[in-house]
Amino acid sequence: MKNFIFHNPTKIIFGKNEISNIGNEIAKNDIKKVLLVSGSGSIKKNGVYQQTVNSLRESGIEWAEFWGVTPNPVLSHAREGCESAKKEGVEAILAVGGGSVIDECKAIAAGYYLDDVWSAYDKSAKVEKSLPIFTVLTLSATGSEMNAFSVLTNAEEKKKWAMGGKSLYPVCSIIDPEVQSSLPWRQTANGAVDTLSHIMEVYFNGGDSEVTLAIDESMMRTVISSISRLQKDEKDYDARANLAWTATMALNGISGLGLGGGEWAVHRIEHGLSAVFPHVAHAEGLAVLFPAWIKYVSEVNPEHFTRWAKNVWNADSIIEGVNKMKLNFHNWKAPVTLGELDIPESRIEEIADNTMLLGEFGSMKILQRQDVINILKLAV
Ligand code: NZQ
Ligand code: ZN
Repeated sequence: MKNFIFHNPTKIIFGKNEISNIGNEIAKNDIKKVLLVSGSGSIKKNGVYQQTVNSLRESGIEWAEFWGVTPNPVLSHAREGCESAKKEGVEAILAVGGGSVIDECKAIAAGYYLDDVWSAYDKSAKVEKSLPIFTVLTLSATGSEMNAFSVLTNAEEKKKWAMGGKSLYPVCSIIDPEVQSSLPWRQTANGAVDTLSHIMEVYFNGGDSEVTLAIDESMMRTVISSISRLQKDEKDYDARANLAWTATMALNGISGLGLGGGEWAVHRIEHGLSAVFPHVAHAEGLAVLFPAWIKYVSEVNPEHFTRWAKNVWNADSIIEGVNKMKLNFHNWKAPVTLGELDIPESRIEEIADNTMLLGEFGSMKILQRQDVINILKLAV
């Protein structure tokens, strides 16, 4: 087992009707005014907005609103958010939405103290401090509600890059799985694929941390069983709740303890892919790329991939495991080929070039430009 430090400071309040606590949690931190940030308005349709502002009002918290965060959030909008936070004189940022809203809130919270927020993503500046962040989660997928990462797209330069910093852990996140029953099926499936992918990125890195490997396998099986329950009944609360909590644990540190930092190779290629094709949802890119990556690299550690095939997919070989995963993705209505994402083979080199902007990557197997091309060709 590799050495590790585990210190996740985010307070989680989980369950039905818990959004009413958000105002009190903010007030406890001596904060008087927040910037409430959200996307295109799903929170107004499913009642989350009303629950949130009622709670703010009851706790005497003032707020200003900043709308319009897009899936795959963009730098230009985050810059506007930084200006809005300054103009409104807020003391904290309140994200109400999915991973994109939370990630852009982290950009605003850090950007508040930087000359330009992109400097955190291109690593020309370090994030030393940020405004406190609170979240009301409406889509379990990214784990952003309990981690210190943020992903933002610089659309002009076609760069989808990540940043992180200790100050970016949300102070408190509320996860009410019930409000996720308003999700379109596509987003529920995306959440499941992203969650599985986060676990696999750390699990495949391997290492003798049996407790973590066993937790990871159990979490992967939970994703698979929960999504199949939800396919039968989208209102199945316990299935949603299990999926939601697994999504949080998949990327809050737990899934990688003792295994090292993880692979993150598929995420890197996906970010290159959706930087070039911003219409592609993060998890849909992962659904197409993960099977191809496993086929390409599994020869490096066949015992470990065979264990994964057996314990997660009840399959007798790696290829059978990969095929079962693809079949499941397909049954969940997720895409499994680049063609289904409307990406022609002729654009593969462009995706590879974008992926390589930050240099070689991967852990178990270091990947170069030609490797990325080979993996993408396996995904055609
Ligand atoms: O526009 P709104 O109203 O927010 O609607 C959203 C959006 O259209 C909708 N939605 C969210 N909750 C809903 C709902 N619709 C109905 N009912 C609800 N309860 O769903 C759509 C997608 O939302 P989005 O926030 O974009 O999805 P997700 O949570 O998958 O976030 C994806 C982003 O997170 C990044 C991805 O790259 C992508 O940009 N990631 C962030 C990570 C992190 N911070 O740790 C790690 C991930 O690997 C990932 O890279
Ligand atoms: Zn992800």
